[in-house]
Amino acid sequence: MDAIVLLKNDHKTVEKLFKQFEKAGDDAKKTKRDLVDQIIEELSVHAFIEEQIFYPVARKAVPETEDHVLESLEEHHIVKWVLEELRDMSPEDERFDAKVTVLIENVRHHVEEEEQDWFPEVRRGLGRKSLQEIGEQMEKAKIDAPRTPRPQAPDEPRL
Ligand SMILES: [Fe+2]
Ligand SMILES: [Fe+2]
Repeated sequence: MDAIVLLKNDHKTVEKLFKQFEKAGDDAKKTKRDLVDQIIEELSVHAFIEEQIFYPVARKAVPETEDHVLESLEEHHIVKWVLEELRDMSPEDERFDAKVTVLIENVRHHVEEEEQDWFPEVRRGLGRKSLQEIGEQMEKAKIDAPRTPRPQAPDEPRL
């Protein structure tokens, strides 16, 4: 699969979970816990394949977007800390919903920046064939990717 199509599909999956969370009522504690667990898993895997595969390749192919990549890594970092806190937090906690709301705002902002300006530039820089190959690499990497956020783990490939 084309790498950018794969990443956009992940974004859609997460957006669906966000919408379900926003629709869940105040008393739907169990539903919210399940949704947040799914969000944690989806975003952990997604961040991992971007950081280990897509970001480094894209940065090399389109060096003028390097600042974007560096900002993206910092945005991932913040999101992972919030996810880490949500793992251990009860939906009964009065701050649970607020924390998820802020998480959603952060991720939506991040996704918009990736999709609006940056992906089109990366597509031009890499071309169809490379994007296919990177997409296949990312599909494989998903299988063994961490399912938890791990904010303190290295977020760039080891050389
Ligand atoms: Fe990202
Ligand atoms: Fe992304």
